[in-house]
Amino acid sequence: MKILSLVGARPQFIKEAVVNRAVRDKNAWTHILVHSGQHYDFNMSGAFFEELGIPKPDYYLGVGSGSHAVQTADAMVKFERLLLKEKPEMVLLYGDTNTTLAGAIDAAKMHIPIAHVEAGPRTYNKIFPEEVNRVLTDHISDLLFACTSLNVSNLAKEGIVQGVYNTGDVMYDLYLRMCHNFEPQIEMGKLGLEKDKYVIATIHRDFNTDSRDTFAAILTGLGAISFRYDLKIVLPVHPRARKRVSEFRLEHLLNDNMIVCEPLGYIELMSLTQNAKFVVTDSGRFQKESYWAGKRGLLVMPQGWQEITDTGWHKLVPEPALIDWEQAADEIMQRTGYPKNLFGDGHAAEKIVEIIGRRFS
Ligand code: UD1
Repeated sequence: MKILSLVGARPQFIKEAVVNRAVRDKNAWTHILVHSGQHYDFNMSGAFFEELGIPKPDYYLGVGSGSHAVQTADAMVKFERLLLKEKPEMVLLYGDTNTTLAGAIDAAKMHIPIAHVEAGPRTYNKIFPEEVNRVLTDHISDLLFACTSLNVSNLAKEGIVQGVYNTGDVMYDLYLRMCHNFEPQIEMGKLGLEKDKYVIATIHRDFNTDSRDTFAAILTGLGAISFRYDLKIVLPVHPRARKRVSEFRLEHLLNDNMIVCEPLGYIELMSLTQNAKFVVTDSGRFQKESYWAGKRGLLVMPQGWQEITDTGWHKLVPEPALIDWEQAADEIMQRTGYPKNLFGDGHAAEKIVEIIGRRFS
């Protein structure tokens, strides 16, 4: 049996790392790995392949950056050619990026069955381009691997009940597999940090970075937290955010308590997260990873993983210009009662591979 995985952006490399290993263990299958090229800088892409032990992709499509239409269409044209050449029996897609959607449309129209890993999350809010990508992908997938029962019920509400499995989250599998490699002391030492004396903040979404007022409010809020609670702010900066800081002339908001660095690899980020006081993020991926590290957090977006926000462990900050950041930080630091086991048992990838195998036996 020949299956083909398509990836392109950071969270997909992380998901693919676990599924890839489980597929390789099943050595009766031919597995072809395709990288769309949506993320191309070394620290946005190559670094993850190296540290997570993902084999070099068999194909690199070189799609790169662009508007949603340009990126999705370019990936579709290039990926279709590849499907014609390789003729896989199944296409594996991950998450909800433009790469995911491009792969789904191509495969569905070529009548190649699609397996969608991380099916079923919903925000019901189209401010997130990912919402469009995941809804469309779910509706044309054949096997839908959901992380939680909430995701399964979201799919059922849309009439999708066939081929749906609650396997748990492959990112949790990876976290458990990699946690022995985390080295908080080493990573803190590199940045001169002390346990519980810093916050990690990652901000990359366009609705936060592409408005000067909103981005300025977030940086001002982080600055206020750092002074009020004597916390360093570690700020790994996504390339888009870096461009906006200089374009909007926001450098003056980056104070001495802020440690601005390049985007971090998986092990670096997870190592630092272990000893952070709390996190501030607009990343769905980092929201879950910080939850697994037991960290409370402020989510700078209208919605996040509802499984976590419903418990109050992470607090939503939907309007960064309107909130009192010091008070929000104070509130989150008071939270107790870590909600355990929200995303499965850490064996999602094995279940996924077994279900795919059954379908073709
Ligand atoms: C994409 C995904 C998002 C995911 C995120 C992880 C979509 C719609 N969004 O968002 O779901 O959470 O990846 O990071 O698919 N850039 C570089 N170098 C790179 C990559 C990007 O400079 O290697 C810059 C470019 O200016 C680009 C911008 O970042 O235009 C945005 O990149 P893009 O892949 O379009 O979206 P992300 O915000 O990274």
